[in-house]
Amino acid sequence: MAPNANDAGDESAAADPVVGAIFDAVAATAPEIRAALPGRRVEGEGDDNPSGETVMAGDLYADELLADALTAVEGVGAYVSEEREAATDAGEGYSVAIDPLDGSSNLRSNNVMGTVVGVYEGALPATGRDLVAAGYTLLGPITTMVVADDDGVREEVIERDPDGEDGDEVSRSVVAEDLTLPSDPTVYGFGGRVPDWTDEFRAYADEIEDELKLRYGGSMVGDVNQIVTYGGIFAYPALRDAPDGKLRLSFEANPIAYVIERMGGASSDGSGSILDVEPEGLHDRVPLYVGNEALVDRVEDALAAD
Ligand code: F6P
Ligand code: MN
Repeated sequence: MAPNANDAGDESAAADPVVGAIFDAVAATAPEIRAALPGRRVEGEGDDNPSGETVMAGDLYADELLADALTAVEGVGAYVSEEREAATDAGEGYSVAIDPLDGSSNLRSNNVMGTVVGVYEGALPATGRDLVAAGYTLLGPITTMVVADDDGVREEVIERDPDGEDGDEVSRSVVAEDLTLPSDPTVYGFGGRVPDWTDEFRAYADEIEDELKLRYGGSMVGDVNQIVTYGGIFAYPALRDAPDGKLRLSFEANPIAYVIERMGGASSDGSGSILDVEPEGLHDRVPLYVGNEALVDRVEDALAAD
């Protein structure tokens, strides 16, 4: 059972109380997920996930914990996870799409990972225009959470106090408000093997390598947080033999696109905003390009030049 974050304090309260309760629940699970990882760096028992990927024990643990925490939130209608074939019904209300442990392949090498959250107005699959809030936790040297909603985008630090007044407590402290992307971008991170990139993307990457500094760690949340912090562009592009790239629209691309667009940046699937991509299924993949608008506009132009 995750500790409670109900006493998170006014400074992290969202305008929509259900959204506030959802991020309280996510924050409450983060220290528990972190604490459980040392013994869960091995492959999980059971099948691959619905995307055909090997599941780590940490993915399964995080998924169970988040399912319990989020289905208990009043106003959540469905828990929808990258690790589950279908939605888990929770009553009436928002659909919460979760990538429980994004970047879990970093478990073996002990690098950053985190949970991605998308709060959708109705049932999934839906476009990102149905998002009312989105964000992610980052299990780095510090546990942080970036939350984007109607109020804007903020960064919080999550801390656990096992000896709190009400027992085991988790606090959320806002450390940066009204976040916007830095206007002078400095970093980039591109996923996939270079030989698998298309000629058009490769030509774009050649230009970017001359202008920006590479920051790539192999977990989307960690690599996107580099862009959130320093400005630049993150991409998991369309590949020669995988035109839809790797990342999942509902669980990964849409929530990240929502955060970046709320920060004044842009997102694209190669030709238009990620948030307009019409899904066919829950586990659809999509190429993802996010960052400062001028850099995203340029990648769209480069990809159109075939
Ligand atoms: O969830 C998929 C993921 O782990 C992302 O976090 C990350 O961006 C990507 O896969 C890394 O893929 P690759 O190892 O091909 O760069
Ligand atoms: Mn992921």
